[in-house]
Amino acid sequence: MTIRSRKADHIDICLKERVAPDHCYWDDVKLVHNAMPEIDMDDIDMTADVLGRKLAFPMVVTAITGGFPGAKKINSNIAEACAELGIGMGVGSERAGVKGVDPETYSVIKDFDVPLVIGNVGAPQLVKQKSGEPFTDEMVKAAADLIDADYIAVHLNFLQEVIQPEGDHNAPGSGTGSATWLSGTRS
Ligand SMILES: Cc1cc2nc3c(=O)[nH]c(=O)nc-3n(C[C@H](O)[C@H](O)[C@H](O)COP(=O)(O)O)c2cc1C
Repeated sequence: MTIRSRKADHIDICLKERVAPDHCYWDDVKLVHNAMPEIDMDDIDMTADVLGRKLAFPMVVTAITGGFPGAKKINSNIAEACAELGIGMGVGSERAGVKGVDPETYSVIKDFDVPLVIGNVGAPQLVKQKSGEPFTDEMVKAAADLIDADYIAVHLNFLQEVIQPEGDHNAPGSGTGSATWLSGTRS
């Protein structure tokens, strides 16, 4: 299976199959009504410094997708919303984009003024796999440059890899990595 069809499957499965977790953590949040709050809502400042970037409130949309044609619209929609709301955004694993598979599905984030941009590589990509050589520092830098990233997130997704027949199953060394990257790449 190609990276492209695997990435498309991830979205397709979320759309068509039952993927909800057993427990919804939002259900743990109880809002207690205060009928006499003695505050002026306009005095409430939700802005926050998150990793050196000022966000309108402390929220970041996590890494989801990239690397198949349908991902361009998804990332474009998310980026537009994040720019409008003034919050951060991560793109999905950039392995595909760095290897030249639909790079514009990631770089579309640059069309929007997202205040905190986070790239994404998998820990399995930092060690040699049957599927190929590990990422070099230059490849990680390319992942950052593709989207003008402020940071690169490393996703620890061994479980996700082992349940996929063609996944990357070699883990020793992936927790240490070789790289010396990366913060504040964007001025
Ligand atoms: C379709 C899909 C693709 C994802 N792809 C990535 C990815 O490429 N890189 C990554 O770090 N996390 C990826 N994630 C994980 C999410 O970023 C998030 O950590 C995970 O969904 C847990 O958050 P949740 O419990 O709110 O869903 C993906 C999640 C989904 C649903």
